[in-house]
Amino acid sequence: MADDVNDVTDDETNESSEAQIAVHWREENYYEPPAALTAQANASDPAIRDQFTEDKFPDCFTAYADLLTWYKPWDTVLDTSTAPFWKWFVGGELNASYNCVDRHMETHPNKAALIWIPEPETEAHQAITYRELYVRVNEFAAVLKDLGLKAGDRITFHMPMVPELPVAMLAAARLGIVHSQVFAGFSGTAAGHRIADSGSTVLVTMDGYYRSGDLLDHKVKADEAVEAAAREGQHVDTVLVFRRYPGQYSAKTPMVEGRDVFVDDLLPAHKGEVVEPTRLSATDPLFLMYTSGTTGRPKGCQHSIGGYLSYVAGTSKYYQDIHPDDTYWCMADIGWITGHSYIVYGPLALGTTSVIYEGTPNYPDAGRPWRIAQQLGVNIFHTSPTAIRMLRKVGPDEPAKYNYHFKTMTTVGEPIEPEVWRWYYETVGKGEAAITDTWWQTETGGFLGSTLPGIDKMKPGSCGPAALGIYPVILDEDANEVPKGSGKAGNICIRAPWPGVFQTIWGQPERFVSTYYAKYNKDPESKDWHDWPYFAGDGALEAADGYFRILGRVDDVINVAGHRLGTKELESAALTVNEVAEAAAVPVIDDIRGRVVEMYISLKPGVEASADVENKVKVAIETDIGKIARPKNIWIVPDMPKTRSGKIMRRVIAATSNFTDTGDISTLANPEVVEKIREQVQSAKRAKGEVPRELSETEEHEIKSFGQE
Ligand code: WTA
Repeated sequence: MADDVNDVTDDETNESSEAQIAVHWREENYYEPPAALTAQANASDPAIRDQFTEDKFPDCFTAYADLLTWYKPWDTVLDTSTAPFWKWFVGGELNASYNCVDRHMETHPNKAALIWIPEPETEAHQAITYRELYVRVNEFAAVLKDLGLKAGDRITFHMPMVPELPVAMLAAARLGIVHSQVFAGFSGTAAGHRIADSGSTVLVTMDGYYRSGDLLDHKVKADEAVEAAAREGQHVDTVLVFRRYPGQYSAKTPMVEGRDVFVDDLLPAHKGEVVEPTRLSATDPLFLMYTSGTTGRPKGCQHSIGGYLSYVAGTSKYYQDIHPDDTYWCMADIGWITGHSYIVYGPLALGTTSVIYEGTPNYPDAGRPWRIAQQLGVNIFHTSPTAIRMLRKVGPDEPAKYNYHFKTMTTVGEPIEPEVWRWYYETVGKGEAAITDTWWQTETGGFLGSTLPGIDKMKPGSCGPAALGIYPVILDEDANEVPKGSGKAGNICIRAPWPGVFQTIWGQPERFVSTYYAKYNKDPESKDWHDWPYFAGDGALEAADGYFRILGRVDDVINVAGHRLGTKELESAALTVNEVAEAAAVPVIDDIRGRVVEMYISLKPGVEASADVENKVKVAIETDIGKIARPKNIWIVPDMPKTRSGKIMRRVIAATSNFTDTGDISTLANPEVVEKIREQVQSAKRAKGEVPRELSETEEHEIKSFGQE
């Protein structure tokens, strides 16, 4: 409260922006890698690190590129001449589709490339062999070619978790068409913004898919998407509609004459057609993956063919420990970077079997994932802390009922609490699997921090040391290095480039430089990578043993269940409601989803607060972004706490929503409003039983400094 003392300085021009905080947390005990895993691991000798020491940079990464088949080898491993737009494997030529499909079709055609599990348990799973994948990718590539699409064009997918999605990605990659897959849970409008931003003329979607027992109408979103894109001046010529049940339409929305076409109607004309993979340059783009940032406009992270594919193949081999005869299941959605890198491109580049599940993990019950693992003999499992927390809550004893054996288990997307880590290790992994806690981002293409599962000891709550060839540094606001073992946190940066790093933000090269490289660059003209540390936007600290602990975002991004939502995106959606004058989104600590969003609204003069306005805000957010962004609560308040220059103090309302100390509010223009809001929000939350547990020190820091960048 206002009269509590704390050390957060609060003056309107210089609010506390200290990225460096002292963190005191209990050192966790180490867990040894399981001996049986080490005995068969791709990385079993610690000497592997010697091949990736800084004196061997950048050539060390040719070990990853050598996992691929190249039409023409590269001339230059790393070209820094257009810093910080790094170019990897320059002069090299390859095709991602060839590497993920054709070459395995030649060596092991009858092995399953994908196994698809429909959500309804009454529907049989489908195993798609490399030979069959080859046929399907070629036929769909023929469809795309027929539409006149060619290398460099963009195509948007708004597809659920069905095998048609990787087929479509690999078909696009075959022709060099840059794909942009939008998470199916995003709204049609969100897909439309991304269609417009990328300049796509073709949208690929599906009529419906299952989620928690319901066959959802997904086609309706295509109509919204096309309209939203048109409002931004982008015309979509063709909407290709896959059908969940070919020959039978599962959506209610009518097909639009001349624009919408069923893919299963087009395919017979291309039966057995072969489309030669296009020879593409290593530095050509493979795909765009949109992510949120601090402005309303999403960022289309552009990934390269050669660098990206090398990096995901290498990290899949050493960190997922994928061998060709493994059955690997990553429960993420292909609509996020995790699915691109570690369901599709990495595992398939290595020729393994990758499992795809259509539905929600706990449908029809909390035993579902473990039944799938048992049924298919899954031995590598990959999921997020949110899914682990949820499965632990709804079915803590379920894993023991099933007979499966994992050798490694991955977690990604958010920090994992040590208690949750231990349940994952002991109950899900039955004490016999290594956990790899992998820290990375949409922008980074692949893992930046993780343990090597056959070599490194694990430490709950820490992702582990830097990945091979990655040289992180933690810097304070003045660019001083925060030494390891100091117990202090700062901004984690990566000093040198790596092949998986994104090439640019589509259409926003200045934003690429200013967001990720400008912060610690002292010479904008420099062509030397040493001058361009990559700013990840995460707070972190390095323990004495070189293990990193990631604390979370330092920008205005809220990580909900491992999905990044920008406050500006949420707020601009709320502001589309006519009655709304001001909106502010803040994170609330949540035991399952990590963080959830609460939205504060003030209304235009003369407008009364009502459930109707609240509902309009909710609908606006769902329409603009999607259900995943739906705020837990919407608070209509008389006024927002503001600085004298009129800036909304998000940290004050964040503290209110989290029942923590609001810090010094004496410099606010309207300090009296803080108490009013506190009374209103906290009593309503108490009545709903939403008082959160006591926050940890780092959580408290995050809340108290929220929105101060
Ligand atoms: C967070 C997901 C702690 C982090 C691959 C990062 C993590 C953001 C971890 C990227 C982890 C990701 N431990 N935090 N193992 N992995 N994060 O782009 O804040 O969806 O910046 O990529 O998630 O989210 P994105």
